[in-house]
Amino acid sequence: MDRYGSVARALHWIIAILILFNLFLGFAHEALPRDWKVMPVHKSVGLTVLALTILRIVWRFTHKAPPLPAAMPRWEKGAAHATHFAFYAFMLIVPLTGWIMSSSGDRPLTWFFLFDVPKFTVSKGDAIVGISGETHEIGGFVWATLIVVHILAALRHHFILKDDALRRMI
Ligand code: HEM
Ligand code: HEM
Repeated sequence: MDRYGSVARALHWIIAILILFNLFLGFAHEALPRDWKVMPVHKSVGLTVLALTILRIVWRFTHKAPPLPAAMPRWEKGAAHATHFAFYAFMLIVPLTGWIMSSSGDRPLTWFFLFDVPKFTVSKGDAIVGISGETHEIGGFVWATLIVVHILAALRHHFILKDDALRRMI
């Protein structure tokens, strides 16, 4: 069986776990105790996703992905490619808009309290900050929906169609 290489697989699963954790923190942050420092952790995890995504995209361009199962109809291959392309866009746009939005506030921006992360030179009230806030929130919802579809598609391939789609990523 032709599967994704070990680096591609490791990046897929590490990034997936970080994103799921961050979607949870993003949606639940108002309900969680303030002294848990949820938002600094959310920002640090998100910046980590951004850095790993850049590495992942470079890796993707320089390493061939294994072919999809031959029996997959064309429309389904097209849907898979479109979803994956959208995921790469979300992995860049959602953290970047969060970073822009957080740059306008007075709170320090750190990576897990270890070192300061530079801020963009934007202020509260700038159009780009408002647009980033909206994009971050709507992006989070749309992305979460697509991730559910992605997971259901993977499980369908594995348990119903019984092909190698999921095994190629494990
Ligand atoms: C994988 C990356 C990320 C995901 C999936 C994500 C997801 C989310 C979600 C779902 C929300 C809740 C939106 C709402 O209901 O208002 C949120 C809020 C927020 N995110 Fe992110 N985020 C990510 C990265 C970042 C980064 C890198 C930063 C900053 C450096 C950031 C800063 C914020 C802030 C400040 C809020 C609170 C907005 C508010 O409540 O007004 N996020 N995020
Ligand atoms: C936040 C969660 C996730 C994100 C953002 C994500 C993202 C991606 C992306 C971008 C690809 C395309 C890889 C390429 O460049 O060829 C991919 C492939 C894949 N993912 Fe995920 N994934 C997530 C979670 C999961 C989960 C939980 C599963 C399993 C239940 C899964 C199963 C797969 C499989 C089987 C492939 C290979 C599909 C193919 O080759 O066309 N993913 N994922």
